[in-house]
Amino acid sequence: MRRLSFLLSIFSVAHALNISIPRLAPATAPVVSPSLISLSIEMDRWIDWAGTTSRNQFFFNTLDNLKQITGSPPQIRIGANSEDHTDFRQDAEFAQAVFPPPTAVVPYPEASRIVVGDSYYATTRFLPPNTHVTWGVNLGSNNVTAAVLEARSIAKAFSSPGIKSAGIVLDYIEIGNEPDLYKNNGLRPSTYTTSQWVTDWLKFAGNVSTAAGITATSHTKFLGASFAGSSHSTSGFSPQAAFQAGLLTGPGKLISAISQHRYSGSFCTGSGGLLQDLMTKSTIRGNLTVFKPDIEATFAQDLDYILGETNSYACHGAPGVSNTAGAALWTLDYALFATQLKISTVFFHVGIGFKYSLIQPITLTRSTLDGTTLPAPAPAHVQPQYYAAIIAAEAIGKTGNAKITELTINHAQIAGYAFYEGSKLVRAVFINSKAYLPESTTRTSVHLDFGFTGDGATAPASVSVRRLATGRATDVSGVTWGGQSYETSDGRVSGALKVETLPVAAGLDIQETEVVLVEFH
Ligand SMILES: *[C@@H]1O[C@H](CO)[C@@H](O)[C@H](O)[C@H]1NC(C)=O
Ligand SMILES: *[C@@H]1O[C@H](CO)[C@@H](O)[C@H](O)[C@H]1NC(C)=O
Ligand SMILES: *[C@@H]1O[C@H](CO)[C@@H](O)[C@H](O)[C@H]1NC(C)=O
Ligand SMILES: *[C@@H]1O[C@H](CO)[C@@H](O)[C@H](O)[C@H]1NC(C)=O
Repeated sequence: MRRLSFLLSIFSVAHALNISIPRLAPATAPVVSPSLISLSIEMDRWIDWAGTTSRNQFFFNTLDNLKQITGSPPQIRIGANSEDHTDFRQDAEFAQAVFPPPTAVVPYPEASRIVVGDSYYATTRFLPPNTHVTWGVNLGSNNVTAAVLEARSIAKAFSSPGIKSAGIVLDYIEIGNEPDLYKNNGLRPSTYTTSQWVTDWLKFAGNVSTAAGITATSHTKFLGASFAGSSHSTSGFSPQAAFQAGLLTGPGKLISAISQHRYSGSFCTGSGGLLQDLMTKSTIRGNLTVFKPDIEATFAQDLDYILGETNSYACHGAPGVSNTAGAALWTLDYALFATQLKISTVFFHVGIGFKYSLIQPITLTRSTLDGTTLPAPAPAHVQPQYYAAIIAAEAIGKTGNAKITELTINHAQIAGYAFYEGSKLVRAVFINSKAYLPESTTRTSVHLDFGFTGDGATAPASVSVRRLATGRATDVSGVTWGGQSYETSDGRVSGALKVETLPVAAGLDIQETEVVLVEFH
């Protein structure tokens, strides 16, 4: 048995890859935002995330961990499906929400109706200082009064001393979520077109800009589009179609970024094959490069471009796929690759009990996988995807203007990115996206050798290495990063940091379902 595993391990490191890394940042390398991995939060249960009369300390800690690493907390968008089912009543205490019954496929459905008051938006003060926020208001119900009352209350919250003194700022108001689906979900007639949406949107934007004090000189601007899908052309729904239909006229001039949404598919049951598909380097690239024409059209209008809502699969995630260690690798490669298309921020969608939530910020009593009552309540915890946010933060670092370039690696399962500060190479991330599944018999490794190209800086001599350690790709807990765990009762890191130091010339092995962060010295 010993002998067999020895032979297997010899066999399993048979592949070696030479990786060329530019010593200086290529001219094309974009600056990467410290809050590249940000969160989109389902609006109906926002107060479970934030807290009501005092902050939800667990959620705060998970955000603050990231802030301690990069200097900036993740950006937070609150909206999504329930945004278009929200009404306002000034004196409503926090939020009153009505939920449809849970099902096995969707154990934690979105509210069918929610009524919020001033105290609801005021809880934005519980976010970490200096958080940049986006709030959604209701377009779906086609009631301008409701949208105006929400916008006024949002503006009131952001001008309150608690939020102002914490430096928490409102970057955007989003008017309506996924309006391209209104024709399917009954919020508009089945014939609803882009130009009808533009007319609706401009009408609401006129009122909302007045209510929220959005002007040419205000910090707060509008986020435009927020479509679920895209035709990627000037017919149907897409940013380019919306521009052509006059979106950027009148109050549309107050749009400063375009948001689109993306899920890699709609699979409500999971499998090992599905997990591997999600993690695969080429499908990750396929899911993002489809936006190239949309991004180009957006930049042609001098606007920023974000993925304002995204995650793995519909149904709030596929069980045994979206909630696993493998999904952490997907999250990391997906967000890092997005930078290469100049997508500035990637908002991963989260909700209470959603399978693809990076964080479960409160105790749950119902299974997120099938809705059955849990044998014992599950206290607040992070899910494996959270580690992707930590790794991205460590790779990006604290300068606020690090640059990132994807390395050319001619290998179907190895992706790599180099990070630069000033123009100097400082770190690199490598991802082995082969899913090590319960049915896998061997865990293969790929050996990476590094070569440095270009002049102008001395080649590094040694590297320190941190690893994302996972059991099987399907594991839902027990993941560690550099030997440390975030799976703690308060969401803070625990355990001793484990860093290997190696001569550059030795290269390193990366096994299936593993991430390494290499720091160059
Ligand atoms: C990697 O580079 C070394 C040294 O340049 C070379 O000998 C080796 O053949 C290369 N390996 C591959 C797989 O290209
Ligand atoms: C919206 O704006 C229009 C035009 O200025 C105005 O007539 C209307 O009263 C406003 N509606 C609300 C609810 O503020
Ligand atoms: C529109 O919303 C306002 C504020 O909630 C509400 O008072 C009014 O009844 C709504 N109008 C309709 C037609 O539903
Ligand atoms: C998106 O990813 C899924 C797997 O997660 C894959 O089935 C699908 O083909 C990908 N889409 C594109 C356009 O590449």
